[in-house]
Amino acid sequence: TGYITLDPGFVNTGAASSAITYIDGDAGILRYRGYPIEQLAQDSNFIEVSYLLIYGELPSKSQLEEFTSRINRHTLLHEDLKRFFDGFPRDAHPMPVLSSAVSALSTFYQDSLNPFDEPNVEMSTIRLLAKVPTLAAYAYKKSIGQPFLYPDNSLGLVENFLRMTFGLPAEPYEVDPDIAKALDMLFILHADHEQNCSTSTVRLVGSSEANLFASVSAGIQALFGPLHGGANAAVLEMLEGIQADGGDVGTFVERVKNKEEGVKLMGFGHRVYKNYDPRAKIIKKTADEILRKIGGNDQLLDIAMKLEETALSDDYFVERKLYPNVDFYTGLIYRALGFPTKYFTVLFALGRLPGWIAHWREMINDPATKIGRPRQIYTGERQRDYVSIDNR
Ligand code: CMC
Repeated sequence: TGYITLDPGFVNTGAASSAITYIDGDAGILRYRGYPIEQLAQDSNFIEVSYLLIYGELPSKSQLEEFTSRINRHTLLHEDLKRFFDGFPRDAHPMPVLSSAVSALSTFYQDSLNPFDEPNVEMSTIRLLAKVPTLAAYAYKKSIGQPFLYPDNSLGLVENFLRMTFGLPAEPYEVDPDIAKALDMLFILHADHEQNCSTSTVRLVGSSEANLFASVSAGIQALFGPLHGGANAAVLEMLEGIQADGGDVGTFVERVKNKEEGVKLMGFGHRVYKNYDPRAKIIKKTADEILRKIGGNDQLLDIAMKLEETALSDDYFVERKLYPNVDFYTGLIYRALGFPTKYFTVLFALGRLPGWIAHWREMINDPATKIGRPRQIYTGERQRDYVSIDNR
């Protein structure tokens, strides 16, 4: 069987060659298809970034128009898929609901099953980008017992999503352009991050030639965990916990340093960034602006900033090169926009969707792809003889 290298967490193991996203973790650099994240966040929009990630180039005007109108044509859900939501308990967490609904797309669109059928992969790509925001909004509506709203395809993707989430059938819903812009930018910042846990999951599931819907559904489950996308909700819970304890940041940091069971500085640290996460830099500034504009002066933002300042000047965090990551400030913005904590990770999933799709397509088209199948070092009993139950 040869010599097997053990690498828990794949810290040093490359699983794929990829031309999608470049990260230099020591320098704090992130680029999609070569374009710096700072430029995309400022000047692009989420649909255009999705196109860039999936097809490799920025679209021309007509390409962007066609892509946008194709997505707009597919936002509606099959009425039977809508009824799917009735089966979940009302207080269900929206992440497994979303993952189940995406998994169910394979049953509604059985033309999606062959991963090498290019026109149908293209169709599945559009269907995902169009329907996941609708599914996400319905998961929310279900949780608060409000009726589902049909998509309004005269609106942009983010505006449509906000309306389906916060609107009511009997009332006109005015989308606040500042809120739509902030959410669009957050989606851009989340859109890809090379071989992270959920994207690696999408690639691994896809490597067995499972279709795009099945693979993305698995990616959503991987994102659910608090060490990955679930961290955005965990950060807010942490900040609220500190506030409830009187806002004493120093005591909390001591508990983290003492490695008290279950106490971590959530939203800090990263496998790849050993410098300030470039996404967190942009998000921190936005959090400040948004909160001052729509949420007033939020006490939790002050706690977060104090927490960051305290950690960044403490040897424990300096030695380990722990900096705020993308999840540290996002929750504060989501909260100001009106989203409940439980829903934060769904917003991460909406943003990460084009990245998952781009990676799945790159994986399926790469002749070097083999089914993902890690090896192990066996540590159990070598061999023993079966003992009948009476003699044990
Ligand atoms: N708070 C306190 N100590 C930490 C933290 C933290 N947030 N992160 C890492 N450390 C310590 C860790 O205990 C270890 O110390 P020691 O050498 O004494 O054992 C050292 O730093 C190295 O950490 P690691 O656990 O080996 O690093 P990793 O690359 O395996 O884990 C991580 C990366 C992101 C899972 C981890 O930093 C973490 O748990 N952070 C908190 C959760 C979080 O914010 N996750 C979001 C990640 S970014 C976006 C996303 O994927 O969603």
